Amino acid sequence: MTVQNPGTTTAVPIPAQSTYQARIADYWNREHNPVNLELGKIDDLYHHHYGIGDADWSVLDETDAERRRELVTAELHRLEHAQAELLATHLGPLTPADRVFDAGCGRGGGSVTAHLRYGCHADGVTISAKQAEFAAEQARARGIDDKVRYHHRNMLDTGLATGAYAASWNNESTMYVELDLLFAEHARLLRRGGRYVVITGCYNDTYGQASREVSLINAHYICDIHPRSEYFRAMARHRLVPAHVEDLTAATIPYWELRKQADHLVTGIEDTFLTAYKNGSFQYLLIVADRV
Ligand SMILES: C[S@@+](CC[C@H](N)C(=O)[O-])C[C@H]1O[C@@H](n2cnc3c(N)ncnc32)[C@H](O)[C@@H]1O
Repeated sequence: MTVQNPGTTTAVPIPAQSTYQARIADYWNREHNPVNLELGKIDDLYHHHYGIGDADWSVLDETDAERRRELVTAELHRLEHAQAELLATHLGPLTPADRVFDAGCGRGGGSVTAHLRYGCHADGVTISAKQAEFAAEQARARGIDDKVRYHHRNMLDTGLATGAYAASWNNESTMYVELDLLFAEHARLLRRGGRYVVITGCYNDTYGQASREVSLINAHYICDIHPRSEYFRAMARHRLVPAHVEDLTAATIPYWELRKQADHLVTGIEDTFLTAYKNGSFQYLLIVADRV
């Protein structure tokens, strides 16, 4: 056998974005669900996540159909914003000089929430160009674009400055990526002693494997829900030490029960979430970790 060019290997170009990531970007570039847009219009805080807390069921008693729709929309927005506030409380204490990183930032509501609470700088990263443009326009309109910035980038490979961040988070965006790659990037960006927070749906290891409902949710959103155990294993591998863990499953059920009754907002996945939470196969989890 003759060996040609000993000592060299052939470089195969690696795309900056995998085919899967391109599909995810397409999904979010096209996404115009009323459940995301109508709720955000209320106060220009656009969240693409679910909600927590007790619902005010009296909104369903309204007899005027149009007014009932408005009340239900506002109540769901209150619950989704409560979720963003809960996450933000765990980022601190932070000062206006601090910088935070919002991984998989959607239309930007989480970064604005953190900035309004702490006055801090925020960098939001989303794989969707449309979302990054939308979020940047919102920051301009609020006059906070000098401190709150959005980037169309891959959160696994952000190009942002090493050790520059006092806190970082994922709000319902970990199921699109491999946790080892994600936590390596958070560990790189966070300064020593920085805070990492995640809110996510995860499948419950005690159930066994992913249930039918968890698989349906994966297919619906083109994602890959991780088991609860994998979060802790991957954090331990990347210098992220859990300081607080909260099971938000019971707290998120009212949001889903109310959303199920919102004919103008349902997407068809509501019953699947409720069954998954109630049969114990799926959990809504908050993990707060210190970067050591
Ligand atoms: C369910 S949304 C959550 C948005 C936001 N965190 C919130 O709470 O409103 C999921 C987000 O993850 C983003 N995403 C998925 N994969 C990503 C990746 N590899 N890099 C950056 N963003 C990603 C999507 O673009 C989308 O903005």
